[in-house]
Amino acid sequence: MKIKIKKIGFVAALTLFGVALLSTRYYMVDLPVWHFFGGGEGPDPLTLQLHGEFVESNLGAAEGPAGSLTVRMIAQQFVFVPQCIMVPAGVPITFRITSADVVHRLRFLGTNYGLEAVPGVVTEANFTFAKAGEFKIPCNEFCGAGHYAMRGQMHVVPRDQFASLLPGERRTCELR
Ligand code: CUA
Repeated sequence: MKIKIKKIGFVAALTLFGVALLSTRYYMVDLPVWHFFGGGEGPDPLTLQLHGEFVESNLGAAEGPAGSLTVRMIAQQFVFVPQCIMVPAGVPITFRITSADVVHRLRFLGTNYGLEAVPGVVTEANFTFAKAGEFKIPCNEFCGAGHYAMRGQMHVVPRDQFASLLPGERRTCELR
């Protein structure tokens, strides 16, 4: 009897361990498998550039309804697209980001902000950058051979300067 209980306990522990592992590492499962099991609610990492919210012309900063500002980005081995983003200071900004391959993490150096980019998922967050300046955005999650060279940039400009730019000029910026 004692042995039986031990066995059940062992099986239960193993099952629990498996479930826990799967629930935290689901994104490591092959993408087609992941999509087969209903992971298709978010954007498909394999067709990001072809249709939907994350096509290239829709990336970067864009004005939404009621003057809100949304920045859309893709993280992929080993760049952020776009590599440089421009935002106004002192204005709440909605970030929407996804990954084209593995998990990446943006770290806005000089701030407390960070963002995780997960394939098949759109991560959304609202950040306000108080002061103008140039901020490096290194990847903060090991994502492969080029991880340490994966970095973007963000230019925070005064609000009125941002407002004076044309929509096409606001979308991205030049790396410095
Ligand atoms: Cu992307 Cu590390």
